[in-house]
Amino acid sequence: EWTTGNIVEEQVAAIREQVGDARAICGLSGGVDSAVAAALVQRAIGEQLTCVFIDHGLLREGEAEQVERDFVAATGAKLHVADGRERFLTALEGVSDPEQKRRIIGREFIRAFEDAEAAVLSAAHAEGAKVEFLVQGTLYPDVVESGGGEGAANIKSHHNVGGLPEDMVFQLVEPLRALFKDEVRAVGAELGLPAEIVQRQPFPGPGLGIRIIGEITEDRLEVLRRADAIAREELTASGLDQDVWQMPVVLLADVRSVGVQGDERTYGHPIVLRPVSSEDAMTADWSRLPHDLLSRISNRITNEVSEVNRVTLDVTSKPPGTIEWE
Ligand code: XMP
Repeated sequence: EWTTGNIVEEQVAAIREQVGDARAICGLSGGVDSAVAAALVQRAIGEQLTCVFIDHGLLREGEAEQVERDFVAATGAKLHVADGRERFLTALEGVSDPEQKRRIIGREFIRAFEDAEAAVLSAAHAEGAKVEFLVQGTLYPDVVESGGGEGAANIKSHHNVGGLPEDMVFQLVEPLRALFKDEVRAVGAELGLPAEIVQRQPFPGPGLGIRIIGEITEDRLEVLRRADAIAREELTASGLDQDVWQMPVVLLADVRSVGVQGDERTYGHPIVLRPVSSEDAMTADWSRLPHDLLSRISNRITNEVSEVNRVTLDVTSKPPGTIEWE
């Protein structure tokens, strides 16, 4: 029988078998998938696992703190935090192409982990022990969309599947590879992760990097972070979090339009709201959010984020649109 308890038992056994008495490292992205994958591996091999949180500077407001506080409190896992903000920005300088962004972010992620390895080992007093395994929260839809499934086309190279550098030193542990999102949430709940983590809406590994259409700069990240925080705050305040699968907020950084704010003519950037309903992210429909909620989000963003003078709503299903804009 296919129950959540069985999935946990089966995966715990498989992880023990695969890893043996070696050490594993797991990157936490701030999302559900990596948190559940880490909690599962923690359950299987305990102290042999060290979680690493690479702050790539592409996170939303408050997310770094959430990983460090909530996840650690829930699992008791060992956590090593690495500040990679400068490294990622530098590597992404001048890059606007979506696939190139994903490749660069994927590559820098692995390299940042390799750099973190030495620090992790010494902090763990692991004399001579080697970190041989890298845990990833790859889901079944990621596998399919990256061309790993039977007869699947390569739609986007998800950074946690494609785009890995060839000189990678780790073997992968991917305990969620056969699961859909709802099953991952159930596994997380079974493992005792709190609702704030388990029910969190999905957020892509490349983060805000693929929600800035155009080149990624510190200033643009700051604009998007502020707009995104307002949109999320208002969605939560309206009590409709559970009605949407996720709501990407996208900055069209290379587009400008004329507006009037106060008595001033402005020439600012549009923000796109992309609230979607979905079962598994393979297909999606745009969410019919109440107009007064959309209006509050729009008013607040254009009032509080001076660089933005227009808020638009994406009313495209998937297909033909994907959920993210890149
Ligand atoms: P798309 O845009 O392909 O997104 O409709 C489907 C789901 O996957 C998330 N997504 C990613 N997740 N690494 C991830 O871990 C990625 O590179 C990536 N790209 C998209 C997206 O947020 C949505 O939930």
